[in-house]
Amino acid sequence: MQKRLLFVCLGNICRSPSAENIMNYLVAEQGKSDLIICDSAGTANYHTGAAPDRRMAVAAKKQGITLTGRARQFTMQDFVEFDLILAMDRDNYQNILALDPDQKYRHKVKLMCDFCTSHSDQEVPDPYYGGVDGFDYVIDLLFDACKGVLNSTHLSS
Ligand code: 4NP
Repeated sequence: MQKRLLFVCLGNICRSPSAENIMNYLVAEQGKSDLIICDSAGTANYHTGAAPDRRMAVAAKKQGITLTGRARQFTMQDFVEFDLILAMDRDNYQNILALDPDQKYRHKVKLMCDFCTSHSDQEVPDPYYGGVDGFDYVIDLLFDACKGVLNSTHLSS
């Protein structure tokens, strides 16, 4: 059965487009591109329509990933259309849950770092105001988390 994954950060120009493109890469490697569909969104709307951040794109490219896509804001319809909604940090997680006061979709919303197996971080750090190392670290962390998501029971049925 097809599964739809949505990666969510604040601006949808750094962390979540990286997660989306890394996951698409890993999914293609496993020949599962028809089975696992990925998208990303931001809780904020200030970068709507923008391409991924250039610094993030450089960091991703170093590890063989080309960042594609344009920023968009998370919408209520995303709760319906996606099976798993992966928040990059706790603020993103809380902001998503705040849009679902009846908790109808709460079971779909998870923290990305809960799927890491070789990093102990609980959140994907926001690299936006930091240096190159922060962007490189986000890519490492997201590879770990994406592999964990891919191996998780959430994608097994
Ligand atoms: P992202 O990073 O949430 O990973 O896309 C950010 C992008 C933009 C801003 C903050 C974080 N900003 O403040 O504009």
